[in-house]
Amino acid sequence: MKKIAVFASGNGSNFQVIAEQFPVEFVFSDHRDAYVLERADKLGVLSYAFELKEFESKAAYEAAIVELLEEHQIDLVCLAGYMKIVGPTLLAAYEGRIINIHPAYLPEFPGAHGIEDAWNAGVAESGVTIHWVDSGVDTGKVIKQVRVPRLADDTIESFETRIHATEYQLYHQVLESLGVGRR
Ligand code: GRF
Repeated sequence: MKKIAVFASGNGSNFQVIAEQFPVEFVFSDHRDAYVLERADKLGVLSYAFELKEFESKAAYEAAIVELLEEHQIDLVCLAGYMKIVGPTLLAAYEGRIINIHPAYLPEFPGAHGIEDAWNAGVAESGVTIHWVDSGVDTGKVIKQVRVPRLADDTIESFETRIHATEYQLYHQVLESLGVGRR
């Protein structure tokens, strides 16, 4: 059975959907007050949180993360709203075992505002992508991506809701395709 950890910085709705369907060994947040930690408590999922500013360097921060991953013998790290760029320390230990979800159809609209950027560009369709993580920002090899239309009567809120609903389905499909067993 593959053991997964989920990394999230804030809300954690993707984490919640993943954890309802798959056994999550632990969730990690880089913000001690992130709402995802409350979700983890309610679901009975182990959580860890510490912040980059508590360490003398990003390398030391990531070394602490690697220690947790190794201690729990994690096979796959699922980034889901983890808002930091993965640095060389974490990549050196786990490259090829880290995936990320992005709320746009990469390589369109990379970066932290994929939904808003697509909306502001007036596209007829955007999408959702799950990809392997490399040293770039949303540049790793695509595992799976799907298109999401922008409908004529959409507001940015309804467009965003449709993107998120698509994210939840895509994470599920990709975890199954990577051989992560269901609960
Ligand atoms: C998602 O849209 C994800 O694609 C992006 O950040 C958002 C996180 O949402 N990277 P949540 O924390 O899972 O609710």
